[in-house]
Amino acid sequence: DAAEKGNYRHFMLKEIHEQPDVIEATLQGRVTESRVLEQALGTEASRLLGEVRHVQIVACGTSFHAGMVARYWIEELAGIPCSVEVASEFRYRSHVIQDGTLFLTISQSGETADTLAALRQARDAGFRAALAICNVPGSSLVRESDMVIMTHAGPEIGVASTKAFTTQLTALLMFTLALARHNGLSEAREAELVQALRAIPHQMRAIMDLDDSIKQLSQWFVDKHHSLFLGRGSLYPVAMEGALKLKEISYIHAEAYPAGELKHGPLALVDSEMPVVTVAPSNDLLEKLKSNLQEVRARGGELFVFADSETAMGDGEGTHVMTIPHTDPILAPLLCTVPLQLLSYHVAVLKGTDVDQPRNLAKSVTVE
Ligand code: G6P
Repeated sequence: DAAEKGNYRHFMLKEIHEQPDVIEATLQGRVTESRVLEQALGTEASRLLGEVRHVQIVACGTSFHAGMVARYWIEELAGIPCSVEVASEFRYRSHVIQDGTLFLTISQSGETADTLAALRQARDAGFRAALAICNVPGSSLVRESDMVIMTHAGPEIGVASTKAFTTQLTALLMFTLALARHNGLSEAREAELVQALRAIPHQMRAIMDLDDSIKQLSQWFVDKHHSLFLGRGSLYPVAMEGALKLKEISYIHAEAYPAGELKHGPLALVDSEMPVVTVAPSNDLLEKLKSNLQEVRARGGELFVFADSETAMGDGEGTHVMTIPHTDPILAPLLCTVPLQLLSYHVAVLKGTDVDQPRNLAKSVTVE
């Protein structure tokens, strides 16, 4: 056990640090300098991608959050409608299936009972095809899907998923770019995004250097009972993932909200006992996010902001800003996830919880 952890105290920390390498492994052989290699997504890929008119994503837990990010990408870059739902809801309701719907499941293990049940239902329900994004070769999900994009995260031991999530995002972005090419994405924009994607592992390594500073910030959380995570656009699901990490391993109640909904409820809870965490990209939603953050400050809430370096945000009274490398806003979910993982990790270590095996949770939920 100790040997497998190498020099790391926990599997979770090791797996957080492995992310640059496993993202590189997931990109390997599937992208050139400027393009996604469609053939590398499977022999059927070209024919199928041209026929997709709608994407239905189904997943659970962290994998569901990856699906939520992908919805922003698919609609923005490919211009194709996309729906996302947790598998346990999807499988127990009636659905309307549009023509040309690709059924996309996302799962680290490939054995999650609800995700598998949803896929089995979809097989009989008239979906055009089933694509799985999965980390375990030979798993039930892989065997039962028409197309598969494997993530190359390697075995993930920590119950709280980290490297599986960012490799899922990597695979989902490659898929989106391939789909978008059939739907009018320019070669120039594809090249820009592929280059930005290839730079992610290197930029993530720079984020790992923030580890000590994030450890300092974690002290603010250790005696708190509640916290709020805010994000806008594709960083809203990243806020959800950040909140999930904190609750899973530190047992602090963490709630994620789209920042624009602040006034519709959660602002009533904000006071000095409620730390507010947010991730800020350098896009046109930044100014709106900043005004949301002012509302939090006005109520005495301590703010923790992980901001793209081009936002030029800095520390202020009650506001702790940590700058992360600049990337295209499309790629921001990949980078912004990492500091939130590190924050949860350090809070959990300070609280002395069982980081790799949090109480009541299982790595793979194979029964309903
Ligand atoms: C469990 C794990 C989570 C995981 C979820 C979905 O809840 O603790 O980390 O995100 O299952 O698992 P899957 O293997 O389908 O991605």
